[in-house]
Amino acid sequence: MIFITGGAGFIGSHTCLELLNAGFSVTVFDNFCNSQPEALVRVQQITHKELTVVRGDIRDRFSLEAALRKSGARAVIHFAGLKAVGESVQLPLSYYDNNVTGTLCLLQSMQSCQIKTLVFSSSATVYGNPQYLPLNEDHPLASTNPYGQTKLVIENMLRDLQRSDATWRIGILRYFNPVGAHASGLIGEDPQGIPNNLLPYVAQVAVGKREFLNIWGNDYDTPDGTGVRDYIHVVDLALGHLAAVNKLENQGQCFTVNLGTGIGYSVLDVVRAFEQASGKPITRQYSPRRAGDVASCYADPRHAQELLGWQAQRDLATMCQDAWRWQGKNPNGYSGH
Ligand code: UD1
Repeated sequence: MIFITGGAGFIGSHTCLELLNAGFSVTVFDNFCNSQPEALVRVQQITHKELTVVRGDIRDRFSLEAALRKSGARAVIHFAGLKAVGESVQLPLSYYDNNVTGTLCLLQSMQSCQIKTLVFSSSATVYGNPQYLPLNEDHPLASTNPYGQTKLVIENMLRDLQRSDATWRIGILRYFNPVGAHASGLIGEDPQGIPNNLLPYVAQVAVGKREFLNIWGNDYDTPDGTGVRDYIHVVDLALGHLAAVNKLENQGQCFTVNLGTGIGYSVLDVVRAFEQASGKPITRQYSPRRAGDVASCYADPRHAQELLGWQAQRDLATMCQDAWRWQGKNPNGYSGH
């Protein structure tokens, strides 16, 4: 049994699906503040397997610990958290509360239940402004906004915990840019309001929900002047969590790994790939740079490959085709069902 906080979200739901397919039992603990129960209904439809869903907030120590104890879990994958950079600048206390206080409650609950195996969702944002590329796990850590700061604080908390008690088994996964959707087109990313991230925005332009894409800057020091990122298919990312859980359970060693492809694509590369996948033109205009954006960011993925035997398999065309299938079948996300 694996206990999954935030399991109804974009990455969480895809990970639940792959865990069920691999024969694990799953309990999801989610407050649905940025996700829909329907995602988990669909995970069960696709896999023909059942999971347990508990509605609750990770900051509610009493409910969390009760659910964790009742689940009989032997490991936790911790996705629950807020993740919008711009919002974190406006609402820093909300971010520290949900992300840091929430994680603290989770760790205390785990300790009290003697469950000491944890996979944590970190982010490439902990590298701050890249000093060199590709980014390996030894790159200095920094944060440029409250969201990134919460990820750093949590990573530090986890390292302190490991040092204090060697029976903890902790895997820290630093995600690059998760995109795409399950190949069924039944689950995918369902952003609330106007999407902040590139792929969901492009998909909404293709489906006619938004008039045009703003490309934030075409004067970066990159091959075509637009920002370069390491986009990774969410199913590959989900499979990375399986590899991490297996590693922790079988070998008990703590680790920190990047989950990326190692390939950087520009905004224009993504737009063209999406046009190809959807057969729709993506109307776009160039706008000034977005505050806080860096020119290029991509992973050195070798450590994950060597340690976990995991490597991303799905290319940019597949990412766009799958995102388009999800968008086309669910133009209003889960609320349209
Ligand atoms: C953002 C967050 C990052 C977070 C990640 C995961 C910022 C500064 N960083 O990464 O901390 O972990 O999401 O969700 O917000 N772009 C456009 N037009 C758009 C949207 C994006 O041109 O409408 C460009 C951006 O300038 C960037 C690229 O597309 O070059 C990717 O942007 P985005 O999808 O928002 O991801 P990141 O900024 O890399």
